[in-house]
Amino acid sequence: MTTAGTTSPPPVLQAVVRPLTPAAIFLVVTINAGDGAAAKARSFCADVAPLVRAVGFRDIDGDLSCVMGIGSEAWDRLFGEPRPAELHPFREIVAGGRHAASTPGDLIFHIRSKRMDLCFELATQIMASLGDAVSPADEVHGFQYFDERDLLGFVDGTENPTEQEALASVHIGAEDAGFAGGSYVIVQKYVHDLPGWNALSTETQERIIGRTKLADIELDDAVKPSFAHNALTTIEENGQEVKIVRANMPFGSVSQGEFGTYFIGYAKSPRTIEQMLDNMFIGDPPGNYDRLLDFSRAVTGALFFVPAASFLDSVGEAAPPAGPAAPAPPDPIPTPATAKRDGSLGIGSLKTKAPS
Ligand code: HEM
Repeated sequence: MTTAGTTSPPPVLQAVVRPLTPAAIFLVVTINAGDGAAAKARSFCADVAPLVRAVGFRDIDGDLSCVMGIGSEAWDRLFGEPRPAELHPFREIVAGGRHAASTPGDLIFHIRSKRMDLCFELATQIMASLGDAVSPADEVHGFQYFDERDLLGFVDGTENPTEQEALASVHIGAEDAGFAGGSYVIVQKYVHDLPGWNALSTETQERIIGRTKLADIELDDAVKPSFAHNALTTIEENGQEVKIVRANMPFGSVSQGEFGTYFIGYAKSPRTIEQMLDNMFIGDPPGNYDRLLDFSRAVTGALFFVPAASFLDSVGEAAPPAGPAAPAPPDPIPTPATAKRDGSLGIGSLKTKAPS
């Protein structure tokens, strides 16, 4: 866990780092106008984990999980100050006819399971609980396509970090200690020009992705173009590669001619994914853009903060007692009350925070 520099119990993490699953639902909603809607959305934060437990227990082998994220404007409405250091709205990019659109979204629920029925039931329960506090912005049902392939026919997810490296890539540590254990997530819904893509030779497709299609082997640097997708999305800082964790899923509607990839990337800083997007859309150097975008259009784009699970659990509790004499909570999970004293999680019932 990533709580370097603090002595408090580590925050409980949301289920960000998980193996790819056969099914997923990406549910994005906006919070309706009015204090009542904001209050309902805020108190719902503590209901997510019980809902996942209730639905997931119906088939424990189904590995149901849900990550909840909160957009920049919604954060201000629900919690105010302090806010995660790098939380901001998704930055639109327009370059050479390519467009990374920025679209509405206050809350995201990234629901994953081996079974679509579990995902569907959880999404249903979430929407029922939120009721008239929210309006739908986007809902995408993703499915596994053969051996983790996207609808372009390439294996997607190979270079994801795993285990400790994955956890270190996505979870905030001492650099924003009050939000340690949190994460950032960027989503984009891409629709593909599949006839156009399929008209390319396999060799051309492989040069665009930077890997072989059948065996999923990375192209040798001697033949890999500088515009290859995996070249433009490899980010280095101080000579070190900075990784993100992706959980992309195919989606679509055959009769509508819709064939898509739902991109979802988690990182401890949104800067890494934003740099990848700049490289893809603007190019590195400018003009040397990602040819994947000649065949893929981003129709949504949004950025969310993913707080630690212990933060979500603590939201909706009674306002923390004021002052240093506040009684300790009954369990080891940090709450806003303890956070105020130890500095480890200085977030929570902020709108109702008592003066100290
Ligand atoms: C049309 C949407 C996209 C498709 C179909 C797609 C597909 C792929 C494929 C097939 C690979 C190679 C296998 C792998 O390592 O996973 C890959 C790698 C990767 N993609 Fe994407 N991708 C898309 C969008 C994005 C976006 C928007 C980003 C980030 C902003 C991104 C970041 C990455 C990264 C970091 C890698 C690994 C690079 C490496 O270390 O080799 N992808 N993607």
